[in-house]
Amino acid sequence: MRILVTGGAGFIGSNLSLALEKKFPEAQIFAIDDLRSGSVENLKGFKGKFLKGKIEDKNFLKNLGTFDVIFHQAAITDTTILNKEEMFSVNVGGFENIVEILKEQGTIVYASSAGVYGNGPVPMKENQKLLPHNIYAESKVKLDEVAMKIAKEKNLTIAGLRYFNVYGPREKYKGKSASMILQLAKQMISKKRPRIFKWGEQKRDFIYVKDVVEANLKALGAGKTGIFNVGTGVATSFNKIIEILNHTLGTDFEPEYFDNPYGFYQDLTQADTTLAEKQIGFKAKWSIEEGISDYINNYVKTS
Ligand SMILES: NC(=O)c1ccc[n+]([C@@H]2O[C@H](COP(=O)([O-])OP(=O)(O)OC[C@H]3O[C@@H](n4cnc5c(N)ncnc54)[C@H](O)[C@@H]3O)[C@@H](O)[C@H]2O)c1
Repeated sequence: MRILVTGGAGFIGSNLSLALEKKFPEAQIFAIDDLRSGSVENLKGFKGKFLKGKIEDKNFLKNLGTFDVIFHQAAITDTTILNKEEMFSVNVGGFENIVEILKEQGTIVYASSAGVYGNGPVPMKENQKLLPHNIYAESKVKLDEVAMKIAKEKNLTIAGLRYFNVYGPREKYKGKSASMILQLAKQMISKKRPRIFKWGEQKRDFIYVKDVVEANLKALGAGKTGIFNVGTGVATSFNKIIEILNHTLGTDFEPEYFDNPYGFYQDLTQADTTLAEKQIGFKAKWSIEEGISDYINNYVKTS
C-alpha cells in the first residue's frame, strides 16, 4: 500500500505520519510539505520518505506516482491571512490537484475545520447552516463543497474531517497559530500570568491530537464518503484551561484579562459527535484533563 500525507511536516500531519508507519509497517509512506508552517524536526524518527514541495505544483505531485490512500492535511492554517486568492489556491486548488494523483479506487481523508460553523448554534451539526467568519473558514466551506462533488463525479471515497480545536505535541512550529493551551502553558512555565480575552468564559471544544490521529485512521477503515465532526462534544472555557494548567504545572496563576481586539470571535464551539460515532466509529478518548496532563508532562516540559 502506498500512502501520502500532505502537510506531513506540520502539527497534525507529522503525528499522523508517525502513527501510520506504526500501524502499517509494510506500507510505503510519503510525507510532503512546503514547510510554510511545518518543520522537518516534527518528523524525527520517521522512516518513510519526506519530500519538500507545494500542493499547487502539479509537476511535483505527478512525479510522486500514484497512491492508494491520501491523508490531506496541507493548508494555509494562519487564519489571519486576508489574501483570498492565495488562501483558495492552496486550500481548495491544492486539494483538486492531489485528487488527480489518486488511483481510481483510492481513498482521501482530508482536514476541514469547525471554523465553518462560526457562531452557529451548539452542539454543531454537520448539516447546520454554515457561517464562515474569515477567509480561512470560507476556504474550508468551499473545500467541503468541492470534495463532495468530486467524490460523486469520480466515485471516490472521500471523508472530510471537521477538526475542532486541536492541541498536542509537534504544534510549536505553528507559532502564533499554535493552540491556546500551548501558548498559555508557555507563559506560565516562564512564570508569567496567562493572558486571555475578558472574561475567559468563551468556550472551545478542545481535542487532543492523539484523538485526531485516531479519527483519521477510523475514517480510512470505515471507507465512507461524507463530512464528519472531529471534536470531543465537550466545551471548555479558557478560565478552566488555566485552572487545569495550574493543577498540571503545580502553579497558582490568576489569569490576566485584556480586551478582545477582534470584531468577530467564536464564543462557543462544541461538536455534535453523533454522526462521526455512527458512520466512522470515532469517539474521542482523551478528556481535557488527561490530554493536557499527557501533553505538558510528556512533551512540553521535556522539550
Ligand atoms: N490545529 C487545529 O486546531 C485545526 C483545526 C481545524 C482544522 N485544521 C486543519 O488541519 C490541517 C493541519 O493543520 P495543523 O494544525 O497541523 O497546521 P500546520 O500548519 O502545522 O500544518 C499544515 C501543514 O501544511 C503545510 N503547507 C502549507 N501550505 C502548503 C503547500 N502549499 N504545499 C505543501 N504543504 C503546505 C505547512 O507547511 C504545514 O506543515 C489543516 O488543513 C488545517 O486547516 C487544524
